[in-house]
Amino acid sequence: MDTVFDQVEKNMERLVASKIDWTQCATPEQLTEAREGRLSLGFYGKEIPSQWFGEVQGRNVLCLAGAGGFQGPLLACTGAKVTVLDLSEGMLAKDREIARRENLSMQLVKGNMCELSRFEAGQFDLILNPPSLMYVPNPRAVFRECARVLRKGGTLIVAAPCPVNYLCDYVSDENGGYYKAVHRMPYDARQHDDSGWIEYGHTMETYLGGLMESGFSIHGYLECQMEDITELYFCVRAVRN
Ligand SMILES: C[S@@+](CC[C@H](N)C(=O)[O-])C[C@H]1O[C@@H](n2cnc3c(N)ncnc32)[C@H](O)[C@@H]1O
Repeated sequence: MDTVFDQVEKNMERLVASKIDWTQCATPEQLTEAREGRLSLGFYGKEIPSQWFGEVQGRNVLCLAGAGGFQGPLLACTGAKVTVLDLSEGMLAKDREIARRENLSMQLVKGNMCELSRFEAGQFDLILNPPSLMYVPNPRAVFRECARVLRKGGTLIVAAPCPVNYLCDYVSDENGGYYKAVHRMPYDARQHDDSGWIEYGHTMETYLGGLMESGFSIHGYLECQMEDITELYFCVRAVRN
C-alpha cells in the first residue's frame, strides 16, 4: 500500500507535468543578477529580506523541498554550496538541467524532508524551505530534523500557507458566490475528497510553536495575501538556538 509520501510524490509529478506556476525556473537575467551579487528570492508578491539570509557565499545551504530550478541555482550563482532535497524527480530534473547548462555545482538529493539522517549534525548554515509543509502530516518532525542539521546560530527560512486557506468552502450563488467558514483546524484534505490529493492545513501553533519547541527563536515574519483573498502565506525566519 502507498504511504502518504508515495501519494504526495505521485501528486507532485502530476503537477510538474501540468507546468503549475511553482515549477518556473530562475530566468537567465535572475541568474546573472545573482552571479553579480544581487540575490533576490521572491516570496509571492514580496521579497525575502536579504538580511534574513545574510552573506551566502561559501555557506552550506540546504534547499529543503526546494527543487524546481529556482532557489538552488540562484544560491549556487552567488557562490553558496547548495544541496537541494526534494521528493519529486521531475522537480530535481529542473535543477539538474540548469546546473548542466549554467555549469553550476549543486548536490541534488531525492528524499523526504521528514527524514534527514543522510546529513550530519550542524552541517548547514542556512535552510530554505519554500511552501511544502502542507504536504507533510507532522511539520514538527521536519523542524526537529532541521534543528539537528543546522549549526547553532544557523537560519531556517520557512514559508507555508496560513490556516485561513483551509477554513472556507466556496459557495456559488446568483450573485457570484462567497466563502463560508466551515472547517475546523487542523484540516486534512482526505476527509473531504477521495481523489488522492493530500494536503494538510496546519495551525500557527504547529508552525510557530513547533519551531520554538524544536530549538528555534523567531527573528522575522512576513505575510503575503494573494488575489484570492483566503490565499494567505507566511514566511518566517527562525534562528537555531
Ligand atoms: C510548492 S513546491 C516548492 C518549490 C518551489 N521551488 C517554490 O519556490 O515554490 C513544493 C515542493 O515540495 C516538495 N515536497 C513535498 N513533500 C515533500 C517531502 N515530504 N519531502 C521533500 N519534498 C517534498 C515537492 O516535490 C515540491 O517540489
